[in-house]
Amino acid sequence: MEKESHNASVEVMSNKQVIYREEVQSSLKETHLEVRTSSKRLKADKDSGTIAVKNLYLACDPYNLNLIKYSTKLGSPVPGYGVARVLESGHPNFKKGDLVWGITGWEEYSLITAPETCFKIEHADVPLSYYTGLLGMPGMTAYAGFFEVCSPKKGETVFISSAAGAVGQLVGQFAKSLGCYVVGSAGSKDKVDLLKNKFGFDDAFNYKEEQDLDAALKRCFPEGIDIYFDNVGGKMLDAVLLNMKLYGRITVCGMISQYILEQHDGIHNLLNLLLKRVRMEGFVVSDHYHLYPKFLEMVLPQIKEGKIVYAEDIVDGLENGPAALIGVFSGRTVGKQVVTVSRE
Ligand SMILES: NC(=O)c1ccc[n+]([C@@H]2O[C@H](COP(=O)([O-])OP(=O)(O)OC[C@H]3O[C@@H](n4cnc5c(N)ncnc54)[C@H](OP(=O)(O)O)[C@@H]3O)[C@@H](O)[C@H]2O)c1
Repeated sequence: MEKESHNASVEVMSNKQVIYREEVQSSLKETHLEVRTSSKRLKADKDSGTIAVKNLYLACDPYNLNLIKYSTKLGSPVPGYGVARVLESGHPNFKKGDLVWGITGWEEYSLITAPETCFKIEHADVPLSYYTGLLGMPGMTAYAGFFEVCSPKKGETVFISSAAGAVGQLVGQFAKSLGCYVVGSAGSKDKVDLLKNKFGFDDAFNYKEEQDLDAALKRCFPEGIDIYFDNVGGKMLDAVLLNMKLYGRITVCGMISQYILEQHDGIHNLLNLLLKRVRMEGFVVSDHYHLYPKFLEMVLPQIKEGKIVYAEDIVDGLENGPAALIGVFSGRTVGKQVVTVSRE
């Protein structure tokens, strides 16, 4: 039973949540999380700087693991990026009825205490779920990581790992639109087909079926790699180092192969950074959020013209959230994993 009053306060009688139940040591398992329903009263007092929201879509990001492990108390709802409708606002930037994307809770209703970190959704003529991926944090990651950090030029060779993921599929399309030669790696035949046939990559390979990653890269890049957009780290990074061209760039976006390891893989081929004068640089998307309007200006018309496509894997219902999130780390997810909480 739930009751929403849109007047001075919002009362929520029933709030389904995904709770962080048991401490995660390395990999995330369903037993670490619990779906339960409790009652919650939400109130965003005038001038409190908070907003009360109804969550619509939640993103399953590798970042959720970080948030869970390092900034979530046991017994609290899992935090993460999502799309929500403002029910009541005590913050001058937002009003009742606004749509926002940003960090919220894995629950039906949340009180967001730092809404200044949220973005107001001004363009709702695209699927709203896109604001968990293509038009949200992963999209900005692909945009900033590729255009700001990689210094790409037309005609360069670009390699992307975890290329069928939320970020990778976009980096590949951005690189193709610039006139680069683009190759991606992914963990299944279906994903490789998607890269070649849906996202327009020039070539792709299934890294799980390659005996020798160095040989696979030499096959795809006989002249070497100008830009490596690294989403995975580990053995792939080590093999790429052997195949970089002179003055190449390696953008360290993520290292998903390492997140759950107690002992991280060693990297053996770093000498190539020196010999090939390669620039290797990490970045964090939030440092680039001031570019969000510029990103939207570039990407929205391309979506509408069908020049950019986006693969999503959408599951319905918070109760299916834990399995969906775990699927991101097992490779089961194809494209951007989204959980629908409510279609309003
Ligand atoms: N720097 C930043 O600010 C920033 C922001 C967002 C994301 N990131 C990072 O960027 C990377 C991509 O993010 P995303 O959201 O697009 O995630 P994603 O690539 O969609 O992540 C899921 C995919 O990662 C692959 N994967 C899982 N375990 C792996 C392993 N052990 N080795 C190799 N691949 C593995 C799987 O694909 P396969 O089937 O292909 O193995 C899985 O489907 C992640 O490392 C993430 O942490 C960084």
